Amino acid sequence: MDRIRIRGGAPLHGTIPIGGAKNAALPLMAAALLTAAPLRIANVPDLADIGTMVELLRSLGVAADIGPATGAAAGRVVTLDGGRVSDTTADYELVRKMRASVLVLGPLVARFGEARVSLPGGCAIGTRPVDLHLAGLRRLGAEIEIVDGYVLARAPTGLTGATVVFPQVSVGATENLMMAAALAAGETVLENAALEPEIVDLARCLATMGAEIDGAGTARIRIRGRQKLAGGEHRVIPDRIEAATYVMAGAITGGAIRLPGADPALMEAVGDVMARTGTEVAADADAVTVRRDGPLTAVNVATAPYPGFPTDAQAQLMAVAAIAAGTSVLTETIFENRFMHVPELARMGADISVRGNHATVRGVAALRGAPVMATDLRASVSLVLAGLVAEGETTVNRVYHLDRGYAGLVEKLAACGAEIERIRG
Ligand code: UD1
Repeated sequence: MDRIRIRGGAPLHGTIPIGGAKNAALPLMAAALLTAAPLRIANVPDLADIGTMVELLRSLGVAADIGPATGAAAGRVVTLDGGRVSDTTADYELVRKMRASVLVLGPLVARFGEARVSLPGGCAIGTRPVDLHLAGLRRLGAEIEIVDGYVLARAPTGLTGATVVFPQVSVGATENLMMAAALAAGETVLENAALEPEIVDLARCLATMGAEIDGAGTARIRIRGRQKLAGGEHRVIPDRIEAATYVMAGAITGGAIRLPGADPALMEAVGDVMARTGTEVAADADAVTVRRDGPLTAVNVATAPYPGFPTDAQAQLMAVAAIAAGTSVLTETIFENRFMHVPELARMGADISVRGNHATVRGVAALRGAPVMATDLRASVSLVLAGLVAEGETTVNRVYHLDRGYAGLVEKLAACGAEIERIRG
C-alpha cells in the first residue's frame, strides 16, 4: 500500500489550483439517471470516489464517457447517458466503498418505479443512517422495505409530490429528495432542507434539465415535478473543502499560498475562524489567498451545517490548533465519531483530550514526525498538514483515503516547497 513521506519545516509559498467539488459532482452524476438524454458535466475532479460513482452508474447501464485530465486541477468532462439503463440494483460492493452511492436511490425509483440499493452499513465517522432519505421518499409515495441488507423502493405508478419536513438537516437526504421530486407528479416542498452550496449547484443543474425548483440555498425548497427531464450541460462548483485544506496548510506552515479557482463566497466561516488564529484569508479577482506571518492563536470552534464551519474541515483545523498558542476547544456537532485523528496527532506530540464531542487542544511549541495512519479522508489530510510542520519525518499510511478526495495532493504541496513524496508499494 502506498505511503506519503513528509519532512516538515518548510513554509509553503506558491500557487495551488482548486478543483471541482467532489461533494457536488457525486449528486450531479446521480442526476444523470433522471433522464434518457446525455448529461455533460465539466470540472469533475480526478478522484477515486468519482471513479466509484462511474462504476456504479455503468453497472446500472448508464454509458459514461470520461474526458482526458487536463492538468492537476482543471478537471475532466464526464458525459453520462442514461438512455439505456438496464438495472436498478446498486450492489453492496460499490455502496460499501462509498456512502454517497445511496444518491442513486431517489433518481432510480422516480424514473423507473423501483430501486434496490444496498444499505451503506457502518462508516468510520459514525453510524450515518439513511432513515431521513427513506422517510422522505415514503412521503412521496414510495413503498420501502429492507430485505437482506438492501433498501427495496417501489412506486409502480410513479411518485407524487408532497411536503417533506426533515427532522434534522441532511445534505444527502435533501439531494435525494430534490432529484426524486423533479420527476414526481405535482409539487414537493422540502422543509428544513440543507443549505450547502452543493445543493444549490444540484438545483441549477436540475433546472437546466427542465426541472422547476425555487429556494435552493434556503431551508425551504419547492420543486414542481416534470414527467420527463432533458439532458444538459453543467460545470461543477469549486471544492470549498479542498480550498479550506490548503488554507490550513498555509496557516500551519506560516506561508503564503494563492488558490486560483477557489470561491471566497463559499468559505466565509473558514476565513473568519482563520482570522481569529492570526491567518489572513483574502480574495482577489480569481483566487483566494492565505498568508500567516505572526504567531498562531488558539480558537474555539463548533462545526455546523452550512454556512457554519464545516465538519469536513474540523480535523485540518485541529492540526493547526495543535501548534497554536493557548487552548482551543473544537466541538463536533455533525458526526458522533469524528475525532479519529486525535490519537494519531497525539503520537506526533499534540496535547489533545476528548470529552464527548469536545476536543480540548493545548497548543505545543512543536510537533514531531512519526509514522501515522488514519481511518477517513479528512483525518488523513490533517496528518499530512501536521507532517508539514513537524520536526523530522512523518509517514502517512493508508493513502487510499486521500485519493478519495484530494487530486494531486503531493504534487500540489511539493510545488509550494513542501518536502513530500509518495512511496509506491
Ligand atoms: C455530506 C458530505 C460529507 C459531509 C456531510 C456534512 C457528500 C457526498 N458528503 O454527507 O462530506 O461531512 O454532508 O456536511 O456530500 N443523518 C441521519 N439520517 C439520515 C441522513 C443523515 O441521521 O438519513 C445524520 C448523519 O448521521 C449526520 C447528519 O445527519 O449525523 C448529517 O449528515 P448528512 O448531511 O446527511 O451527511 P451526508 O450527506 O452523508
